[in-house]
Amino acid sequence: MVISREPVALAQPFEADRDALSPNRNLTPLTTALDSDGRLTVAGCALSDLARTYGTPLYVLDEATLRGTCSAYREALAKHYPGEALALYASKANSSLAITALVAAEGLGLDAVSAGELLTALQGGMPAERIVLHGNNKSREELALAAERGVTVVADNWRDLELLAELAPGLAEPVRLMLRFTPGIECHTHEYIRTGHLDSKFGFDPDQLEGVLQHLTGCPWARLTGLHAHIGSQIFELQPHRDLAGVMADALALARSMGHPVVDLNVGGGLGIRYVASDDPPSIDGWVSTVAGAVVAACQERGLALPRLLCEPGRSLVATAGVTVYAIGSRKDIPGLRTYLSVDGGMSDNPRPITYQSQYTAVLADRPTAEASETVTVAGKHCESGDVLLKDVSLPPATSGDVLAVFATGAYNASMSSNYNRIPRPAAVLVHDGVADLVQRREQPEDLLRYDVLPARLRSVG
Ligand code: LLP
Repeated sequence: MVISREPVALAQPFEADRDALSPNRNLTPLTTALDSDGRLTVAGCALSDLARTYGTPLYVLDEATLRGTCSAYREALAKHYPGEALALYASKANSSLAITALVAAEGLGLDAVSAGELLTALQGGMPAERIVLHGNNKSREELALAAERGVTVVADNWRDLELLAELAPGLAEPVRLMLRFTPGIECHTHEYIRTGHLDSKFGFDPDQLEGVLQHLTGCPWARLTGLHAHIGSQIFELQPHRDLAGVMADALALARSMGHPVVDLNVGGGLGIRYVASDDPPSIDGWVSTVAGAVVAACQERGLALPRLLCEPGRSLVATAGVTVYAIGSRKDIPGLRTYLSVDGGMSDNPRPITYQSQYTAVLADRPTAEASETVTVAGKHCESGDVLLKDVSLPPATSGDVLAVFATGAYNASMSSNYNRIPRPAAVLVHDGVADLVQRREQPEDLLRYDVLPARLRSVG
């Protein structure tokens, strides 16, 4: 297979801003190219070949792009922050053994929010000392697992502290704790993914902070290592992140003045990515430079020794590395109204359009540069009218059997997938150097029956 290494001139004008250092500003994985037949390839693998080999829908993840975003964060933190710094991958964006292993190998840490994400991280080889456990309603079992394994617990509320105090007598070491508080910062993103404003279920209210810090001075089982706040997700503005630095530095000054040797300042995640051509997010370098500069300035103003700077990128680390490949099936033309093309997946593998009205970009995998002369709506196969992946988008005329590639699906797709309509979850492959590694097996319909129990009295007798 001959691969052109030139940036691919796809039919839509979304390749103009290709910037190797900022994968979050691209729409396609960094290794996207055309083969000699004009087919779309990622890491040297033709997407339609992958579809044939692994079936559809298929999540394709480009290793080079994922490693590229990891190194973009690592390098930007080293360049812009004079103290120690570490990016923790927010694994809610896409949690798997393979992604964990890659992120760990790239030297990042990880944020988990459940026993499931925590086990995946530990089994994927992430060192416990680089993991933090979040959650606004952690179970006793989740807290015990974290505390026993030496994972840092981000205390979100009084109940976390009560449960940990109960577990403490059985623990060999004091629990490493961070305190999460709501910083009272508004930002412009979908209301479901805003978390920094005061009316949020996450974290201590800022007014509670002093009381909590006071309480912890009398808890020998706890070692308060850090403070945490997160303002939201898919954010394009930089100002809220600057404002956050000041609010967090005030909290840091307070905690240290009360005798807590706080070393970590964790500013959360939130950097947006490009889903459609008109999206214009800051680059990873630009975001880190702003955040790091604001933290340094805020600490200097207050005469504080620089903390270790932690951040928790999720979407901007994995989204652009992912492409979902579907087979087009039926077509419905409603003259004068709309043409529906239906694919063999939909809201169960990508619930973002129906949940947040999110927009995506797609091409035909084998004719990515053909003139996009039709306006179509790409629908999923679920029994729900709102199961639409792309509304009124331009595509070349497509027929049943054509393979559709949807870009920037690496974050919050697999991790938010469901079995609605008892549809099995897709397989996932990691592509690199012309090779695809299966990293998630395709669910089978029988798998969905594994946890069903039919009581004996309901079994039919004849
Ligand atoms: N840290 C904390 C505490 C978080 O709650 C989140 C995201 C992150 C970090 C990572 O944020 P990111 O860098 O990915 O923006 N399901 C939604 C997104 C929910 C985000 C939840 N928290 C979506 O599909 O847009």
